Amino acid sequence: MVTIRLENLRKTFGDVVATDHVNMELQEAELSTLLGPSGCGKTTLLRLIAGFYEPDRGRVFFDDKEMTYIPPNKRNTGMCFQNYALWPHMSVFDNIAYGLKIKRVKGMKYTGSAIRRRVDEALGLVQMDALGERTPHQLSGGQQQRVALARALAIEPDVLLLDEPLSNLDAKLRIEMREEIIRIQKELSITTVYVTHDQHEALSISDRVAVMDHGYVQQFDTPREIYANPQTIFVADFIGQCTFVEGKIEKTGSTLQVRLTDGQPISGVTTVHGYPFEEGEDVKCAIRPENLFLERSSQEDNQITGKVTRTIYIGNGLEVYFSVGDIPAQALLDPDLKLTPGDEITFYAPVRDVMVLPLGGVHALRKIPGHPMASAEGPSVTT
Ligand SMILES: Nc1ncnc2c1ncn2[C@@H]1O[C@H](COP(=O)(O)OP(=O)(O)OP(=O)(O)O)[C@@H](O)[C@H]1O
Ligand SMILES: [Mg+2]
Repeated sequence: MVTIRLENLRKTFGDVVATDHVNMELQEAELSTLLGPSGCGKTTLLRLIAGFYEPDRGRVFFDDKEMTYIPPNKRNTGMCFQNYALWPHMSVFDNIAYGLKIKRVKGMKYTGSAIRRRVDEALGLVQMDALGERTPHQLSGGQQQRVALARALAIEPDVLLLDEPLSNLDAKLRIEMREEIIRIQKELSITTVYVTHDQHEALSISDRVAVMDHGYVQQFDTPREIYANPQTIFVADFIGQCTFVEGKIEKTGSTLQVRLTDGQPISGVTTVHGYPFEEGEDVKCAIRPENLFLERSSQEDNQITGKVTRTIYIGNGLEVYFSVGDIPAQALLDPDLKLTPGDEITFYAPVRDVMVLPLGGVHALRKIPGHPMASAEGPSVTT
């Protein structure tokens, strides 16, 4: 079992900064995902871990061993690419055996019988025992995906790297394969890095999620922590739904008082611990739909009034879209409520559920003493 440590990694392609200032420790035997929109640097980071790219700056460690400039075939990683990359003219068996035939352990080759045993084991793991003699074009997409996974696993890698492995599968197969990957990953206790742009997939599969945007890892934490305590506006917006209202800090303290742009006061708490808010500072307040209530539960609750614009019945709830001034907002209410567009509606939001976030995205985190971003260079950007 291997812990992967990434130190201050940066990779550029000409003028494009594909990823920068990546500092993270991927725990042994855990499944960590790299999650973010297209072009945010997920594949680049995965390839830096695999050794297909050398970084412009920074270092890669597997446990205490520095791997930064070690070639991919010497890292003992199993990799699954988005497009499977199976060899079409080879049987399933030979596709899986290939990595074993070229692998040397302490300079020694695997024997034919050892290869056969390993391939059979790998086929068993992905439940493809009977299909070893077929060629890839005689397999369905899901079966090809399984072969690609078996091939990555056969060499008994220390690290498993999966780049959007389910993107070519239909919805039902995706869920089946997702469960399969979790089962195998837990059974083998193999440190795994999984790339996806699908937040639902990331939340359901991961021990920890790295939310990426514009090349930066904005937050790396458990799904629960990321949802409950987003560190940037991007993370709050990308994971789950949120209503955002803008304003200026009027009073700092453990409860932050904010004056919204339309003059209404709102009180909240921050999820960005240690961030030094200042009076007069522009901020955004984020509220999850499930934290807006039609009844007041405490005297301190915030009161928010708006106009219903649309409702969507989703079986176990009613998604209510409304506007507060010209700000679009959303709440999740009881499915039996009867609401019509144009209705005026008043919500109550507990102070602890109003998340006050600084502007400036990941760069704002530099203001937190001792935060890993504190040493990051580069211009400040706003979100
Ligand atoms: N070989 C390359 N040459 C030039 N630019 C590249 C190269 N590879 C990636 N990039 C650029 O680096 C940035 C990050 O790309 P990357 O492939 O890591 O994104 P991604 O998050 O994997 O996106 P997707 O979800 O679309 O696969 C993008 O702007 C991309 O255009
Ligand atoms: Mg990619």
